[in-house]
Amino acid sequence: MCGIYGYLGHRNGVKIALDGLKRIEYRGYDSAGLAAITEGKLEYFKEVGKLSELERLVGDLSSPTVIAHTRWATHGRVTRENAHPQLDESKNIAVVFNGIIENYQLLKEKLQQEGVTFVSETDTEVLPHLIARIYDGDFLKAVQQALLLLHGSYACAILHRDHPNEMIVAAHSCPLVIGMAAQETFVSSDPNALVHHTREVIYLSDGEVAKITLEGVEIFDATLAQISKETEQILHSVEETTKGNFEHYTLKEIFEQPQTIRNAMLSRFFEEYGTVAIDGLHISASDLLSIKRFLIVSCGTSFHAGLVAGYMLEDLAGVPTQVEISSEFRYKNPIVQEGTFVIAISQSGETADTIAAVREIKAKGAKILAVCNVQGSTLAREADNTLFLRAGPEIGVCSTKAFTSQLAVLSLFALLMARTKHMSKLEGQNFLHSLQKLPEQVQRVLDLAPQIEKIAKKYSRYDHFFFLGRRYMYPTALEAALKLKEIAYVNANGYPAGEMKHGPIALIDEECPTVALCADKVTFDKLLSNLMEVKARHGKVIAIAHEGAKGLENTVDEVIYVPDTTDELAPILSTVAAQLFAYYVAKERGAEIDRPRNLAKSVTVE
Ligand code: M6R
Repeated sequence: MCGIYGYLGHRNGVKIALDGLKRIEYRGYDSAGLAAITEGKLEYFKEVGKLSELERLVGDLSSPTVIAHTRWATHGRVTRENAHPQLDESKNIAVVFNGIIENYQLLKEKLQQEGVTFVSETDTEVLPHLIARIYDGDFLKAVQQALLLLHGSYACAILHRDHPNEMIVAAHSCPLVIGMAAQETFVSSDPNALVHHTREVIYLSDGEVAKITLEGVEIFDATLAQISKETEQILHSVEETTKGNFEHYTLKEIFEQPQTIRNAMLSRFFEEYGTVAIDGLHISASDLLSIKRFLIVSCGTSFHAGLVAGYMLEDLAGVPTQVEISSEFRYKNPIVQEGTFVIAISQSGETADTIAAVREIKAKGAKILAVCNVQGSTLAREADNTLFLRAGPEIGVCSTKAFTSQLAVLSLFALLMARTKHMSKLEGQNFLHSLQKLPEQVQRVLDLAPQIEKIAKKYSRYDHFFFLGRRYMYPTALEAALKLKEIAYVNANGYPAGEMKHGPIALIDEECPTVALCADKVTFDKLLSNLMEVKARHGKVIAIAHEGAKGLENTVDEVIYVPDTTDELAPILSTVAAQLFAYYVAKERGAEIDRPRNLAKSVTVE
């Protein structure tokens, strides 16, 4: 979504802020802007399109006090007027803003009745006007009082011409991180953009406001009572946020998976007892035994990981599991009975729908386990327990390594649950051995890249695909289809294979190939029959199957064999093959891979 970057210190903050925007560019944007205070003047620049356009406009401007923004349009079209910063009428106050002001229409009408002229279609513009009307010389107070009038979620950074060495930042249900260094302070909506300058950070919590000056940072709650907050350390390295020798972040992240899966499991095995000991999980065995039902909430790729986890928790642990898309769930009136244990899955930990669903469930008394990749994220802070993926920063908008790490971590949790309930030690140890083999098996899938690239090139001209699977391969098919949709812009329909004959099979012809996810052994024969039905209608079939699968060569057009594992872990290996397929189709079609059109990495608005 939108990205914020700010600098206050002794250096030229313009260059630092532009560099900062480049580091959050991967999150998606359509326009960008910047405001700076130089020699008592508030200067601002905005432009639609690439950051280079803004850089060109800004020229050699130099300032030690800068706020900058990349916008992903929600309220108002992609125009220069709607880009941030937004200003008050006298152009004394500049605001960069991430989030949504839900009551902006009401506020706007009121301000217009009072004679204020609006120049943009954005919801953000109400904020500088409100601050200007409240301002009586106390910048911090004016911002705090204006923020109290807003309904919605936000992170923002604000400058006032009369306070050249001061920046006010605030957050409510949107991420904002303050990076602390010697006599300079950085602000961003993404900690990855700060790590080049400092690892010492403060995450703002809901309703908090911070005043940044050359003397340092003061933090206040929503009532303006000063509070003290501990600084936290960003743990990942600078290298983890670069592309290395890879053409795209997405490809780099696909190839990192042997290591990220290893990291997800590292020091979490308790082999002697055939179980796991997971850091961050403070739940006693008796608490686990009291769980009567799991409820999983998540979006997009994380939802697909949730579906796989649903099968595992029912199959291995025998606990009924409901898996819900957060954006739908948040508008239900959830029935959260005693014994319900909630798992919220989110790579970023900032997805607005998932956070809203979690808050609704928490209010009903349930405990929340977050499965998350980003330390310090809103979800990680609000959950009762967090299992971190340890996958390192995922920069490609299309989620790849986070998905397989989610599956690895969720399988550890399912094993823990199963062992606590009824699974034998030997079965637990066998499961651990299958997990142990995964990094090397994923590497073997990656070694198939040349074969997969060849197949992808052959099929890259098709505009419609089906992705079919059954049982564990059904969510795998959904995930594989999502990858092709988002990075190759190809219409890809993920479907449970057994449902095809209830309607969608009408779409099958020689122009609509099917990618068949075949590695679920329990349903393999059934799937094979479904593929015969596709072939009988002249559909081409590309199969991703486990080594040792029989009867495919005579049925399908292409086969990609991935190493054999248990059905529960097969989604990890098949997904890696599907990621490569999507990547090479996208590349052949010339699509923008790391930052697909219309998409944003973290969806922090509804
Ligand atoms: O950060 P989250 O895991 O909560 O994000 C959820 C989805 O927005 C995300 O998985 C999205 O679907 C990805 N672009 C998929 O590649």
